[in-house]
Amino acid sequence: MVEQLKAKMVVDKSYQIAEIDERIYGSFLEHLGRAVYGGIYEPEHPESDEQGFRTDVIELVNELQVPIVRYPGGNMVSAYNWEDGIGPKKDRPRRLELAWRTIETNEVGVNEFADWTRRVGAEVMMAVNLGTRGIDAARNLLEYTNHSGGTYWSELRKSHGYDIPHNIKTWCLGNEMDGSWQVGQKTAHEYGRLASETAKAMRLVDPTIELVACGSSSTQMPTFAEWEATILDHTYEQVDFVSLHQYYGNHENDPANYLAKNMDMDHFIKTVTSICDYIKAKHRSKKTVNLSFDEWNVWYHSNDADKKIEPWTIAPPQLEDHYNFEDALLVGSMLITFLQNADRVKMACMAQLVNVIAPIMTENNGRAWKQTIFYPYMHASVYGRGISLKPIISVPKYDSREFTDVPYIDSAAVYNEENEEVTLFMVNKHLEEAIQVTTDVRSFEGYLLDEHLVLENDDLKAVNTPQHEAVRPHHLDASTLDSGVLDIRLPKTSWNVIRLKKASS
Ligand code: AHR
Repeated sequence: MVEQLKAKMVVDKSYQIAEIDERIYGSFLEHLGRAVYGGIYEPEHPESDEQGFRTDVIELVNELQVPIVRYPGGNMVSAYNWEDGIGPKKDRPRRLELAWRTIETNEVGVNEFADWTRRVGAEVMMAVNLGTRGIDAARNLLEYTNHSGGTYWSELRKSHGYDIPHNIKTWCLGNEMDGSWQVGQKTAHEYGRLASETAKAMRLVDPTIELVACGSSSTQMPTFAEWEATILDHTYEQVDFVSLHQYYGNHENDPANYLAKNMDMDHFIKTVTSICDYIKAKHRSKKTVNLSFDEWNVWYHSNDADKKIEPWTIAPPQLEDHYNFEDALLVGSMLITFLQNADRVKMACMAQLVNVIAPIMTENNGRAWKQTIFYPYMHASVYGRGISLKPIISVPKYDSREFTDVPYIDSAAVYNEENEEVTLFMVNKHLEEAIQVTTDVRSFEGYLLDEHLVLENDDLKAVNTPQHEAVRPHHLDASTLDSGVLDIRLPKTSWNVIRLKKASS
């Protein structure tokens, strides 16, 4: 008989990492493919409202409780004129969109997007163009969105029907400016100077804003690390965050190695944190720059299909990754990595939200449906608010092609003091075995096991379709809580949400 794999864990309310900034459950909508046109906006759709927004999509976004959405790019922002997207729609120009080689109709611009985010209860994280443009366009946009009135740009906004400013608080200073694919790519020194001066001007317009400087486009960039150090040297006192972007794929079809890739993400976070703190020390600064992981996800399934897309069409199906079950597991592990680093990762955006490498898909003039990755994202966003606790876990490990000492289990714990709830998020990466985890939760006296939700499937490649949700969570009745000992059974290759609640007295 094969012996059951076992692990031990302690979750204690005094082992606190940090208060979680809810903005780590942010997302991203770029003017790219069918994210905006055919995604959130489709006036001809039977379920669209008077503004052309799809209400079926709004309902799904509401389920995710997304707190902040990055906009309008992405690569697209580096050649974008924000003024093209304001004023009467009939007067808005059609432009060649150079990043993704499509036609941009500009039917949706900053005002419509701000309206849409209000409908889903999210804030806007706005990116400014530091590729083809600079200080002037950025400060004008900020005056248009945030200034109360009595000036050219604020009065123009009012004349467009928006009396009350949008009050956008979070701003990205460009996007991936080290990338050769960026229109207006910069060296670290060029970008650092421009970002610093743009930040200065923007803060003069509105001192309450928070600013994100562009880190490297990924750890694979040859300039990675030196780029962060250089741009932070220029901008340290002007910015609040540095950005991180990273996507993973399973090109080699090696699930054990694929499921370990959040270890790379953890390493990335720790490295950028060190660079921020090195520059802090160098500047004898009192302030701490935090991390905005404002693009993260799995992205590789659509690479070949994208090569066949004709240029210069409107809203073609670009970057439409069809996610499978193993992708949902890695997404779950990446969310756990953010929770484990909640002291420094204060914002993160799943890239993206609808149709483009997204948890939500739509058919043109048809249904909206949930991809496999929808579920871990939703669970973390809905139940992962409060204090991130550090679970102390002792668990068997494995080696894969790229990683050594990969724990079979990833775990995070969130304590919501106000609601008297504790939620454990756990991924079992073992491809064949369930694992029994004996967990000491004695510090949560009087708590009961409320539910154990699990995402499991015998087929790692199982996908959802508009017709059939093959991968969806269900309740598992295999865990117990008795005298402060929580016994959890994690099925092989599974995403788990274990929720404890204080018994009502
Ligand atoms: O999210 C898709 C693209 O990935 C973004 O436009 C860009 O910033 C990144 O390279």
